[in-house]
Parts: sequence; C-alpha cells; structure tokens
Amino acid sequence: METVTGLQYSCCNEDSLSELEALELRGKRALSIHAAGGRAFSLLLGDPSEVVAIDRNPAQIHLGRLKVAAMRRLNREAYLAFVGIREGSARAEVYRGLRGELPEDARAFWDGRPGDIATGIQHVGRTERSIARVSPVLRKFLSKDIARIRAASSLEEQGEIARAVFDRLPVRAVLALIFNPLSGRVILRDPVYYGEGRRSAAEYLRGRVTSTLRRHRFDDCFILSLFLHGDLKHSRSMPVGLGVDDYTVMQSRLDRIRFERSCVIEYLGAQPPEQFDAFSLSDLGGYLTIAEFGTLLEHVERTSRSGSRVCIREYISAPTERAPWPEGLTRLPDLERRLDASDRSVGCTFVCAVKSAPSANAEN
Ligand SMILES: C[S@@+](CC[C@H](N)C(=O)[O-])C[C@H]1O[C@@H](n2cnc3c(N)ncnc32)[C@H](O)[C@@H]1O
Repeated sequence: METVTGLQYSCCNEDSLSELEALELRGKRALSIHAAGGRAFSLLLGDPSEVVAIDRNPAQIHLGRLKVAAMRRLNREAYLAFVGIREGSARAEVYRGLRGELPEDARAFWDGRPGDIATGIQHVGRTERSIARVSPVLRKFLSKDIARIRAASSLEEQGEIARAVFDRLPVRAVLALIFNPLSGRVILRDPVYYGEGRRSAAEYLRGRVTSTLRRHRFDDCFILSLFLHGDLKHSRSMPVGLGVDDYTVMQSRLDRIRFERSCVIEYLGAQPPEQFDAFSLSDLGGYLTIAEFGTLLEHVERTSRSGSRVCIREYISAPTERAPWPEGLTRLPDLERRLDASDRSVGCTFVCAVKSAPSANAEN
C-alpha cells in the first residue's frame, strides 16, 4: 500500500456526472473516496441520505473540512474566490472567519499554511503544483493546435483536428516524456502514474483525449484547462457542484457528509454486513496492490446491501483487470460503455456493478 503524507490533491479532476448516473443515489447511504473532496461533495446532488467521505491521508480530510466550512458560509462567487478558482485578495481574512468552525487538527493544519490560504486551496496539492509546472511545456507545444481545436465548427471537425494533432510524433514524444512512471515519481509526484496494474500512460491518454474530443467541446472539459494553464482560472467549465445551479443544492445538503480518516480496506473490514447502498471508489490503482484491491472488492461485496451500486473510475492503473472479481457483484457493461463515452474527465474508464440479490437479473 502506497503511503502518501501531506496534501496530494486539492482540485477535483473528475466528472462526477458519471458517478451520479451510475450510483442512483436518492435516499441511499454512500461511501466515497475523499481525495480532493470534489466527487464526494458532488454526490450530494443525487440526494443521498449520507455520504461517508473516506481517505487515509489526514491532509485530504483537513482540506475537505475547510472546503465544507467555506461552502457553508460563502455564496458561490465568494467560495470560488476563496479557493482560488477566481481572483480574490481577501483569502486570509475569509479564513480567519472560518477557522473557528474547524476541528482542532484541521485548524492547526491550515493555521500553519498561510501561503496556501493566500494562493487558494484549490491549487496547492502536490499534484496540482506539479501540473502547474508541466503546463508551460504543454502550452509551448500545443497552444496553436489547441486554438484550432477550440475554433472547430463542429464536434466532428474538432475530433479530426485532435486526432491529427495527437498522432504527430513530436506530440507523442512530449506526452511520453511527461506521462511515464519515472516522471510520475519525480515530476508529477503522483502515485497514480507508477502503480501496479498500470496501463501505458502516454498512449492511453492520447487515445482518451482524442476520443473525448470527438464527443465533447474542448471548453466543456475543465481538466484540459487545468493541464493547459495549471489552474481553473481560464476554464469555461467547472467541476460538478460548482456550477451556478448545483452549488446551492450541494450547499443545502452539506450536513449529510461524514468524514472518515482511515484506510478504506480496514474501515470496511471492520463494518458489519450490508451497511452501504453505493460505493464511489475512484482511482485507487497506484495506491493499492492488485491483491489489496481484491481484498477491497471482497469487503465491498460483504458490506453492500442487495441492489447496491458500485462505480470505480480507473485512470492510469486498471486493477480490476487483474484482481479477482467477487461473484455477488454483477458488472454493468452497458453502463460502463456509456460512461466511458460520456465522461469529460478525459483520462478515465469505468467499472460499474450492482450487488445482486440471489438469482436476481442484474441489468435491466
Ligand atoms: C488518486 S486519488 C483520486 C484523486 C481524484 N481523481 C480527485 O479528483 O480528487 C485517490 C485518493 O485515495 C486515497 N487513498 C489511497 N489509498 C487509500 C486507502 N487505502 N484508504 C483510503 N483512502 C486511500 C488517497 O489518499 C487519495 O486522496
């Protein structure tokens, strides 16, 4: 198991519309990996009864607690300015107004990081800082092509331009230099790039970028803006939950989030059977060995109620291709294919399942 300390992720880099479709959350009790908090919080849009947001890295939970305290107090524009998605100058002052609402450990964590508060907490994870270092290289090599992609008059034309751009040898070479296990360790400094069960990152991402740009406009994929500019200040689209309509809904349901600072395998291993109806287990490949991932799946099967939904988002590592799959969880291939096509995070594919009642027919 890969142990990471300090803040690794600060900005959601996923498209939670996929989890909202997969998990059918209304009235359900969900377990979600926390990471930067974005996905766990946006599950609230599906109207679940509770979301247990779990992470074994305490820094990630401190981040989530500050985001929740900020969302409770601030309207959308003020929140976006505080976290650094919009320009803002009074972050230290806003933090002083929020810190009293944090538990002691989270308050001590953020009190000791005035520089991060001033920058905006959305951009201070190790991953986001590394992306910001890589983005000038991507801009240098790709900005003219990106301008052509953005100017395309139809999705078909956009997809064709993207295919031609990402087929070019120099572009492939740049991707291979940035996205490989070695630079994953020393430049991107993110375990997702060097985990067991990983796919060939550069080739995989090239395929995902071109297939995504055949289906979605460049500006609808905020993750592309994150990689190109190193932040979301230039992005025309937002992580789910931070849009104008979503924000107030999410805000009104924040009391349904319960933070859990533990290893998900140990936590589920200690739970009685049939505790949850939905599992959002994104992107743990890289952190867990294939054997550990297999144990996690066994616990998911045991702690899920009949009819529960499971949604596993896989980025560079695809542990589900090698871990034993539990019999009681029936894969949903139509849903998986649909999400592989519709997801706008650019880099992910999906493994979805339903906990079958004995002799129940899985997919309708
Ligand atoms: C790769 S990140 C997902 C980042 C995500 N794409 C996002 O948008 O925020 C996975 C998260 O899982 C957490 N994690 C890894 N192994 C874990 C475990 N055994 N139990 C609980 N959390 C774990 C990490 O600390 C990290 O925050």
